[in-house]
This record gives sequence, C-alpha cells and structure tokens, in this order.
Amino acid sequence: MKFNFQEENMMRRATIFVLSLTLLSLTTSGALADPLPLSTDDCAKCHDEVVTDVTTRGSKHNTAVTCLDCHLEHPPKGTEVIPACSMCHDPAEKTHYTIDNCIGCHYPHYPLEIDLDEAGTVKPVCISCHENEGTQLVDYPSMHSELDCKECHLAHGQFLPCLECHEPHTEEMIYEDCITCHQPHKPTVVKYPDNIQSAYCAGCHETETAVLAQNTTKHHDLSCAYCHKMQHKMVPLCTTCHGTPHDAALHTKFPDCISCHIDPHGLEK
Ligand code: HEC
Ligand code: HEC
Ligand code: HEC
Ligand code: HEC
Ligand code: HEC
Ligand code: HEC
Ligand code: HEC
Ligand code: HEC
Ligand code: HEC
Ligand code: HEC
Ligand code: HEC
Ligand code: HEC
Repeated sequence: MKFNFQEENMMRRATIFVLSLTLLSLTTSGALADPLPLSTDDCAKCHDEVVTDVTTRGSKHNTAVTCLDCHLEHPPKGTEVIPACSMCHDPAEKTHYTIDNCIGCHYPHYPLEIDLDEAGTVKPVCISCHENEGTQLVDYPSMHSELDCKECHLAHGQFLPCLECHEPHTEEMIYEDCITCHQPHKPTVVKYPDNIQSAYCAGCHETETAVLAQNTTKHHDLSCAYCHKMQHKMVPLCTTCHGTPHDAALHTKFPDCISCHIDPHGLEK
C-alpha cells in the first residue's frame, strides 16, 4: 500500500481549519483556562488518521511506545512537539543510528514501510548493518562494487534475480545455477561443486567440449569439473591422478605427458 502524503496533508489542513474555528469559538466564549493535560486517548479526537496509521502500521512504535512518549508537548504552547530519533535510538549504541535523515527511510508512524526508491544512495546505510557484504564488494572489486545495493535489492530483504540484468551462458540456466558458480557480492570469483554440469562450461568452451565428446578413451566419461576442480581456471596435473605410470627412463626423457598424449581432452597418441 502506497501512502499519499499530498492527499493526507490536504485532509489534515481541512481538519485543522475546522478545529481552529472550534478553538476560536471556545476562546471568544471566554471558557479558556489552563488547558487540561492531553491523554493518548484524546489524540484520536482530532488526529484520527494518524491514530489509524500508528495502530495498524506502527509496528513497535505502536506496541513499545505511545504518542505521548514521542510527542512530549503539544502546540501552540508546547515546544517539544517533534522528537529527535536520537532521543530513544542512541547514536552511541549502533552505527546505524548515526546516519542522516532517518525520516528519509522510516516514517515514524509506520517505521518499517521503507521506500528505498525515495532514499538516495543507500549503500552506507546497508553497510551499517551488513558489514560482510560491504567488505566483500570492496575486497573483490567487480562491476557490482560500482552498483548501489538498491539496484539489486529493490526493497529490504528482497533481491532481483541475475537474469533481470544478464543473459545466461547457455539457454537452460536458471537463477540457482548462477549462484552455484557466482556469488553476487564477488561475482568474478567463480567456484563450483564437482557435480556441476559440463554443459554449463560448453557455452564458453566449445572446442574442449567438442574434442572431449569425440574422445573414445576413458576421459570421455569424465566431467569437466572432475578434472578442473572447484575453481574456474584451475588446471590439473596428469600426475595428480596418474602418478608416473611408465618406466622412469621414459618419464625422464619426456617429462611432459602432453608431448605424447597431446591433449587431455583428446588423448591422441
Ligand atoms: C482538540 C484537537 C486536538 C487534540 C485532542 C490533539 N491535537 Fe494535536 N494538533 C491539533 C491542532 C489543531 C494542531 C495544529 C496546531 C498548530 O499547528 O499549531 C495539532 C498539532 C499537532 C502536532 C504538530 C504537528 C506539526 O505539524 O507540527 C502534533 C505532533 C500533535 N498535534 C500531536 C498530538 C497528540 C500526540 C495528541 C494526543 C496526545 C494530540 N495531538 C491531540 C489538534 C489536536
Ligand atoms: C516513535 C515516535 C512517535 C510516535 C510513537 C508517534 N509519533 Fe507522531 N510524529 C513523530 C515524528 C518524528 C513526527 C514528525 C514527522 C515529520 O517530520 O514528518 C510526527 C508527526 C506527527 C504529526 C504531524 C502530522 C503528521 O502526520 O506528520 C501528528 C499530528 C502526530 N505525529 C501525531 C501522533 C499521534 C496521534 C501519535 C499516536 C497515535 C503519534 N504521533 C505517534 C513521532 C512519533
Ligand atoms: C520515545 C522513544 C522513541 C523515539 C523518539 C523513536 N523511537 Fe523508534 N523505537 C522505539 C522503541 C522503544 C522501539 C522498539 C525497540 C525494540 O524493540 O528494540 C523502536 C523501534 C523502531 C524501529 C523498528 C520498528 C519495529 O517494529 O521493529 C524503527 C525502524 C525505528 N524505531 C525508527 C525510529 C525513527 C526513524 C525515529 C525518529 C523519527 C524513532 N524511531 C524515534 C522508541 C522510539
Ligand atoms: C537508507 C535508509 C535508512 C535510513 C536513512 C535509516 N534507516 Fe534505519 N533501517 C533501514 C533498514 C533497511 C532497516 C532494516 C529494516 C528491517 O529489518 O525490516 C532499518 C532498521 C532500523 C531499526 C530497527 C532495527 C534496529 O537495528 O534497531 C531502527 C531502530 C532504525 N532503523 C533506526 C534508524 C534511525 C534512528 C535512523 C537515523 C539515525 C535510521 N534508521 C536511518 C534503513 C534506513
Ligand atoms: C538496522 C539494521 C539493518 C539495516 C540498516 C539493513 N538491514 Fe538488511 N537485514 C537486517 C536484519 C536484522 C535482517 C534479518 C537477518 C537475517 O534474517 O539473517 C536483514 C535481512 C536482509 C536481507 C535478507 C537476508 C536473508 O537471508 O533473507 C537482505 C537481502 C538485506 N537485509 C539487505 C539489506 C539492504 C540492501 C539494506 C540497505 C537498503 C539493508 N539490508 C539494511 C538488518 C538491517
Ligand atoms: C540490477 C542489475 C544486475 C543484477 C540483478 C545482477 N547484475 Fe551482474 N552486473 C550488472 C552490471 C551493470 C554489470 C557491469 C556491466 C555488465 O557486465 O553487464 C554486471 C557485471 C557482472 C559480472 C562481471 C563483473 C566484472 O567485474 O567483470 C558478473 C560475473 C555478473 N555481473 C554476475 C551476476 C550474477 C551472477 C548475478 C546474480 C547473482 C548478477 N550479476 C545480477 C548488473 C546486474
Ligand atoms: C548485483 C546485485 C547485487 C548487489 C549490487 C548487492 N546485492 Fe546483496 N544480494 C544479491 C543477491 C542476488 C542475493 C541473494 C543471494 C542468494 O540467493 O544466496 C543477495 C543477498 C544479500 C544478503 C543476504 C545474505 C547473503 O549473503 O545471502 C544481504 C544481507 C545483502 N545481499 C546485502 C547487500 C548489501 C548491503 C549490498 C550493498 C553494499 C548488496 N547486497 C549489493 C544481489 C546483490
Ligand atoms: C558453470 C559455472 C557458471 C555458471 C552456472 C554461470 N556462470 Fe557466469 N561466468 C562463469 C565464468 C567461468 C565466467 C568467466 C569468468 C572470467 O572471464 O574469468 C562467467 C562470467 C559471467 C559474466 C561476465 C560477462 C561474461 O559473459 O563473461 C556474467 C555477467 C555472468 N557470468 C552471469 C551469469 C549468470 C546471469 C548466470 C546464470 C544464468 C551465470 N553467469 C551462470 C561461470 C558460470
Ligand atoms: C562465461 C564463459 C565461461 C564459462 C561458463 C566457463 N569458462 Fe572457462 N574460461 C573462460 C574464459 C574467458 C577463460 C580465459 C580464456 C583465455 O585466457 O584465453 C577461461 C579459461 C578456462 C581455463 C583455462 C585456464 C588457463 O590457465 O588456461 C579452464 C581450465 C577453464 N576455463 C575451465 C572451465 C570449466 C571447467 C568451466 C565449467 C565449469 C568453465 N571454464 C566455464 C570463460 C568461461
Ligand atoms: C582428475 C584426474 C585426472 C587427470 C588430471 C587426468 N586423468 Fe587421465 N584418467 C583419469 C581417469 C579417472 C581415467 C580412467 C581410469 C580408469 O578407468 O582406469 C583416466 C584415463 C587415462 C588414460 C587411459 C585412457 C583409456 O581409455 O584407457 C590415459 C592415457 C590418461 N588418462 C592420460 C592422462 C593424461 C596424459 C593426463 C594429463 C594431460 C591425464 N590423464 C589427466 C583421470 C585423470
Ligand atoms: C581428464 C581431465 C580433464 C577433463 C575431463 C577436462 N579437462 Fe580441460 N584440461 C585438462 C588438463 C590436464 C589441461 C591442461 C593441458 C595442458 O597443460 O596443456 C586442461 C586444459 C583445459 C583448458 C585450457 C586450454 C587448453 O585447451 O589447454 C580449458 C579451457 C579446458 N581444459 C576446459 C575443459 C572443459 C570445458 C572440459 C569439459 C568439456 C574439460 N576441460 C575437461 C584436463 C581435463
Ligand atoms: C613417450 C610418450 C609417452 C609419454 C611421455 C607418456 N606417455 Fe602415457 N602412454 C604412452 C603410450 C604409447 C601409452 C599406451 C597407449 C595405449 O596402450 O593405448 C600410454 C598409456 C598411458 C596411460 C594408460 C595406461 C593404462 O594402463 O591403460 C596412462 C594413464 C598414461 N599413459 C599416463 C601418462 C602420464 C600421466 C604421463 C606423464 C607423467 C605419460 N603418460 C607420459 C606414451 C607416453
């Protein structure tokens, strides 16, 4: 539900106008002594819309405090009408409470209905609570480090799937595949489990894929990730799996297995 400030303001002005007339007529009738102290029950008589907002959308500002905990006094006599957030959310307590313009994100009568669209750059604020994600984006510089958090997190706790902004490497890929290889806050570090489909490598490595497919040796049955384990661009040594299978003299004379076996994907002799 979207709040319409303009409409609310007009209605409020209309209410205040009617009220002024009432107060004025009270004054001219000479009935005005010292005003009686207001109680929370009184607010609804004149600010019914605010009361409705707070009771239905106020979350802890409805349950943990009352109107009068925040609005210590009332105009025109009172001056402590609008509280500073720091009155209760002590900046010394949390980095988050040191940020400027709290109301830019939290309207106090419905503090958890945050419209990030209205909020300018949010990154410093997000990092005030999510230090890890901020650190990752700095430690692993990528094009994502240049984006504001809200480009991907349109609202708190939600996120845009990768495919909203990118093409997949192969047609069948879905979001879960993307984050199998990439993490959003350090996307250039590509890591994957042993069972990642070889078909996902194929989109970028046509040659190796084709050669391996035509291979009739036992390497044909191995997946890319079986040999190129865990991390993209990891290249295994033949000897890690095979040791030195031929006689020592041969290995000394031809230290590089590839000089006879030519290509791990083809294994020609
Ligand atoms: C008799 C009607 C009446 C009651 C009851 C009343 N108010 Fe008001 N309130 C007004 C009017 C009229 C104004 C505008 C006064 C002004 O701007 O000088 C106002 C202004 C305010 C403002 C300041 C708004 C601003 O823009 O600065 C706050 C806050 C406020 N009221 C809170 C409360 C709270 C909390 C209660 C209950 C404890 C309450 N009011 C009870 C009539 C009332
Ligand atoms: C957690 C503190 C807090 C509580 C609780 C709270 N308010 Fe407010 N209220 C504020 C602040 C801060 C503003 C000023 C908002 C701004 O600057 O736009 C405000 C603004 C107002 C205004 C001015 C008009 C408007 O809607 O912005 C009125 C009237 C008002 N409050 C009445 C109430 C009433 C009635 C209650 C109880 C049902 C209440 N408030 C509960 C903090 C609070
Ligand atoms: C009179 C004290 C008081 C004032 C003033 C006050 N708050 Fe709060 N606020 C509270 C309390 C108490 C809680 C509940 C804290 C808790 O449960 O840990 C709370 C909770 C919140 C929450 C979380 C709400 C939820 O339901 O989890 C937000 C967001 C918040 N305040 C923002 C603000 C902002 C922004 C301001 C200034 C516009 C402000 N508060 C002013 C007392 C206040
Ligand atoms: C850029 C937007 C933004 C600004 C500005 C902002 N906050 Fe928040 N705040 C958030 C978000 C997002 C959350 C998490 C809300 C949730 O958990 O649903 C939050 C949560 C909170 C909470 C509840 C959780 C907690 O840790 O206590 C309080 C209280 C709070 N903010 C107070 C403030 C105060 C006080 C200010 C100003 C000093 C402020 N916020 C400025 C976005 C903002
Ligand atoms: C006041 C502290 C606070 C602020 C500010 C804050 N968050 Fe959060 N955020 C939380 C808390 C607490 C949770 C719930 C934590 C959990 O479930 O592990 C959360 C959850 C999340 C989640 C979902 C985590 C999950 O596992 O589902 C995302 C995404 C997120 N925040 C992003 C952001 C972004 C982006 C911002 C800036 C607009 C932000 N947060 C600002 C406290 C905050
Ligand atoms: C809001 C749009 C958006 C979303 C959502 C998004 N990205 Fe990006 N991403 C970009 C932009 C913009 C760039 C830089 C330009 C480009 O390469 O298209 C980028 C670049 C990248 C890069 C290259 C980084 C570099 O520095 O070279 C990778 C990898 C990447 N994104 C992966 C992902 C993955 C995986 C996801 C989902 C977890 C994702 N992106 C979600 C906008 C987005
Ligand atoms: C390019 C898009 C993108 C950007 C930019 C981005 N995030 Fe995320 N973020 C995601 C995606 C996608 C997820 C969900 C990852 C998943 O499904 O495991 C996520 C998850 C999170 C989570 C939940 C915990 C976790 O790690 O799974 C938090 C908290 C979070 N992001 C905070 C932030 C903050 C803070 C920023 C800015 C400093 C930010 N993100 C920038 C896309 C992004
Ligand atoms: C099998 C692992 C794997 C999967 C699954 C995967 N990626 Fe990638 N992605 C990579 C590798 C490897 C690179 C190239 C990194 C390099 O150049 O060093 C890359 C690069 C990218 C880039 C940078 C631009 C480019 O094309 O080189 C983007 C953007 C990207 N991936 C997005 C995605 C998205 C979106 C998905 C999900 C649809 C996804 N990736 C799934 C491994 C994967
Ligand atoms: C988005 C495209 C993309 C995807 C998907 C991709 N790669 Fe790559 N890969 C590249 C690029 C770009 C290079 C660098 C090529 C160069 O340097 O000539 C590379 C290089 C490599 C290298 C060679 C490293 C070296 O030192 O020569 C290996 C091995 C490799 N990839 C394996 C894989 C495996 C295994 C997969 C699947 C799990 C995969 N790649 C998925 C783009 C991709
Ligand atoms: C990650 C482990 C791994 C790596 C690295 C590896 N291989 Fe293999 N290789 C295997 C497995 C598993 C087999 C099948 C063995 C079996 O079934 O007995 C095999 C079989 C072979 C065979 C026999 C093929 C056949 O069909 O009989 C040759 C020859 C061979 N490898 C050569 C090499 C060479 C040369 C390299 C380096 C370029 C290499 N391998 C790297 C795991 C590996
Ligand atoms: C049996 C293990 C094994 C399998 C299976 C395997 N590779 Fe390789 N790959 C290697 C080895 C060993 C090298 C290093 C060759 C060298 O030193 O010249 C290599 C090199 C590469 C290179 C670097 C460029 C080149 O051709 O030398 C790429 C790219 C590559 N592999 C991609 C793949 C892809 C994609 C797959 C799955 C289709 C795959 N590999 C399957 C062992 C394997
Ligand atoms: C001088 C050429 C030469 C070199 C160098 C060489 N090989 Fe071979 N390798 C062969 C020949 C020839 C065969 C037998 C092929 C056949 O029987 O089909 C063979 C067979 C193998 C086999 C299959 C053995 C079996 O019992 O099925 C493996 C595994 C193997 N080589 C691994 C290696 C490794 C690992 C290296 C490097 C450390 C290496 N080779 C270096 C020529 C060579």
